[in-house]
Amino acid sequence: MTKTITAIKAMEILDSRGNPTVRVQVELSDGTRVAASVPSGASTGDNEAIELRDGDKNRYAGKGVLNAVANVNDKIAPSLIGVDVSQQASIDRSMIELDGTANKSKLGANAILGVSMAVARAAAVSVGMPLYRYLGGAGARRLTVPCMNIINGGEHSDNNVDIQEFMAVPLGAPTFREGLRYVAETFHVLKSILKKRGLATSVGDEGGFAPDLNSNEDALEVIIQAIEQAGYKPGEDIAIALDSAANSFAVDMDGHYDLTWSDTGKMSSDDLVTLGKDWISKYPIILWEDPLAEGDWAGFKQFTDQLGGQIEVVGDDIFVTNTHYIRQGIEQGVANSALIKLNQIGTVSESIEAVRMCRDAGWRYFISHRSGETEDSFLADFAVAMDGGHLKSGSASRSERIAKYNRLLEIEQELGESALYYWK
Ligand code: PGA
Ligand code: ZN
Repeated sequence: MTKTITAIKAMEILDSRGNPTVRVQVELSDGTRVAASVPSGASTGDNEAIELRDGDKNRYAGKGVLNAVANVNDKIAPSLIGVDVSQQASIDRSMIELDGTANKSKLGANAILGVSMAVARAAAVSVGMPLYRYLGGAGARRLTVPCMNIINGGEHSDNNVDIQEFMAVPLGAPTFREGLRYVAETFHVLKSILKKRGLATSVGDEGGFAPDLNSNEDALEVIIQAIEQAGYKPGEDIAIALDSAANSFAVDMDGHYDLTWSDTGKMSSDDLVTLGKDWISKYPIILWEDPLAEGDWAGFKQFTDQLGGQIEVVGDDIFVTNTHYIRQGIEQGVANSALIKLNQIGTVSESIEAVRMCRDAGWRYFISHRSGETEDSFLADFAVAMDGGHLKSGSASRSERIAKYNRLLEIEQELGESALYYWK
């Protein structure tokens, strides 16, 4: 029996940074009623779909989302009442057409994505299926390796570390549950090491520690120590992944990257590639996201040409989960993987399309939360449905991060013996 949409209602809630974001509730003809909440980034790419903010300085310093909420209630909802909820792709397409802009700036990607996610969840509930199976089909049974961001830098913290994310990757664990334990234990050991050195153990936006360190490389050293002291073998049990988020190294007028800890004060694209080579030869790094800035396609390609045979080179701000840019990236060989963030593109269907494009090209794809998150665990189901094998959802602290890891534990338990877990 067809289940149709009977009501769509949005409201303004707060994200993990205390900034407003959109929650959307969808009701169906069979009585199903679910909600979904939209995340929000800080280190954003220029070409991301537009997150509509009110700009009213009297509310939340201009960050209110009442206009996006009104767009859901007054414009999107009337256009979708009576529609078959299982028609995800056509529902998403109709919202894109209703918006009519290339970057969803009229209705707001936050408005559109909230509806898109809630529609997917409602459809799954109405057929009695877990979301990962509804989106991924009967074959969806591969858990993701949790790339746990245990040291935060860049725009996600107030410390002196340039690299935004240092992730511990439990690729040698036999199961997701064990992998999560490996990296959570490492996180706790890291805390005690930092404490002994008299360093801060407060956490950044994604729940990793955010100490002032002697250098960027010091972060790698201290993580290796933590892995070993936790009883694991670096590279075998736990490897390292990085997100430079190099946009935030503020390429200045002379085209140089400006890092706190470069010996020269400024670095060229060549210098960053050389740094990459050096670190990859010394540390068990298996994935590196945004090693160069989004405007530096030549530098990105050089990095991939030299190091893409050894590690996964992920484009985040450079591709913004948009098939237009991913296609160009594939044609030019500038990376070998794309980050997938639902709110960068603004619908579930377009995110799935981006994954498909990567898969068809023999690329990997890395499913990601945002630095501003909510308690919604949609991402965990989405990651299992997409079968990409790895996701990043922050550290072993802050419940908006843990919510995704806990949902993955639930999925693994539900799958029982049929659950799969492997890096590649
Ligand atoms: P963001 O950070 O959500 O602030 O963009 C995550 C990332 O850069 O991968
Ligand atoms: Zn990134």
